[in-house]
Amino acid sequence: MSKKRILSGVQSSGTPTLGNYLGAFKNWVALQDAGEYESVYCVVDLHAITVRRDPAQLRRQTYEMYALLLAIGLDPKRNVLFVQSHVPAHAELAWLLGCYTMFGELSRMTQFKDKSARHADNINAGLFTYPVLMAADILLYQADLVPVGDDQKQHVELTRDVALRFNGLHPGVFTLPAPYIPPVGARIMSLQEPTRKMDKSDPNPAAHILLTDTADVIRKKFKKAVTDSDSQVRYDPEAKPGVSNLMTIYALATGKKFPEIEKDFEGMGYGAFKPAVGDAVAALLAPVGDTFARLMDDTGYLDTVMRDGRDRAAALAEQTMEKVRQAIGFVAL
Ligand code: TRP
Repeated sequence: MSKKRILSGVQSSGTPTLGNYLGAFKNWVALQDAGEYESVYCVVDLHAITVRRDPAQLRRQTYEMYALLLAIGLDPKRNVLFVQSHVPAHAELAWLLGCYTMFGELSRMTQFKDKSARHADNINAGLFTYPVLMAADILLYQADLVPVGDDQKQHVELTRDVALRFNGLHPGVFTLPAPYIPPVGARIMSLQEPTRKMDKSDPNPAAHILLTDTADVIRKKFKKAVTDSDSQVRYDPEAKPGVSNLMTIYALATGKKFPEIEKDFEGMGYGAFKPAVGDAVAALLAPVGDTFARLMDDTGYLDTVMRDGRDRAAALAEQTMEKVRQAIGFVAL
């Protein structure tokens, strides 16, 4: 029996944070090591241009995100790792699927509503059809499972609806995908406002840890992390969101359980705990940062790996496109 296939996409806008790492990427590496699935990951640069991007910056950030996927430990031999714009079938299938997606469906997408409110001066058609391109990413590779955060679940559900509609007219073309919510869903919060999600676009750099932050910067940011006044290391996300967030981070970085952490720091207060979290995270991210820096110095190597990823992705995509073109009734030459 063939393995189930996992597919996910990652935007190349800015350096990812510790939140992205603990919430998503670390899980991708665990999935790779478990070896249960075949996995395909793409850097979604076509999605990135729904908001205006500086060309040099887009190019650099695409390299950065790709390098980061390698730096966190994804093996380009055991996974298909590629850049979306390198496989033109994504854009082609997006057009075709657009003819099977309803205006009303797209109008209901909460991300579209949010983004059009935030970018009121540039509500382009791409922003509106963004979920159709995402459906194309998923359906091109006949993915069974799509690891995504909460904010993307609606898009995966739409993908399913579109696939069902298409299959209803042209049976057997697409695999129906399902969202994959990781077993340990870690939601990492801002270090400054612990009731909000850690977000790289937060203007206060002390609020987030970037995967490329140096050990010094990491330790400083944890020392400055917002806690509360009672100084007890105890897990209670309602009453003590700051400390609970630090405990979640510490638990994921060290593999320790909450009761063990509470015991280890009993009576010691935040003065001991915060530096310990900083050290643990610095140790966790040191190899990532080192590998990332080395890869960014060698874009020739990155090009080679990207090319290989593109070729493997394109071969998979073409199998689906042949079925789709045939099903719709395009003339084959
Ligand atoms: N829309 C996703 C996000 O913003 C990124 C994405 C694009 C994606 N294509 C995908 C995620 C396909 C999963 C599958 O995070």
